[in-house]
Amino acid sequence: MFFRKKSPAPVVSAGAGAAARPAADGMVKVAITVNGKVVAADIDPRTLLVQFLRENLRLTGTHVGCDTSQCGACVVHLDGRAAKSCTVLAATCDGAKVTTIEGLAKDGKLHPMQEAFRQHHGLQCGFCTPGMIMAAVDIVNRKGGGVDERTIREELEGNLCRCTGYHNIVAAVRAGAAAMGGMRQAAE
Ligand code: FES
Ligand code: FES
Repeated sequence: MFFRKKSPAPVVSAGAGAAARPAADGMVKVAITVNGKVVAADIDPRTLLVQFLRENLRLTGTHVGCDTSQCGACVVHLDGRAAKSCTVLAATCDGAKVTTIEGLAKDGKLHPMQEAFRQHHGLQCGFCTPGMIMAAVDIVNRKGGGVDERTIREELEGNLCRCTGYHNIVAAVRAGAAAMGGMRQAAE
């Protein structure tokens, strides 16, 4: 089974800590800003970021498809850059800012990239979709709103989809990129 020992439920804190602090019981204290809210918790130092998000915070939009850094289903933004959260220890994220798929929509309105995936039907089963969208927003943040198809395909190399054949995903990313207008729109 992928998930290891569970950590206690997190509590909302007033401010982020500077570094993970070891506790007497072998747990470490972390304070991570997730989707704009600071969350503090005592965690097993082996806790992966994806595990922290899914199990501690119940943010299950971030998926686990492989657990071996292959599929990209677990992509989140870590301090504004795409990261595979199955390869990151939560303890190393103390003081960091994390954005998950749940943090993209604002005021009940989908992020332009989410809307583009909806309009272009860039999904079938949807399992890869959160990671695809988080990766796509990062691509546009780095490459701009006019990013071309070839670049999109190259940049999405680390995100696997079993269903779509990628055609609609690439079309969605192009449309989402144009809608984003090259501006950084991910919640930081
Ligand atoms: Fe992280 Fe597959 S679960 S890359
Ligand atoms: Fe099913 Fe991509 S839509 S894995």
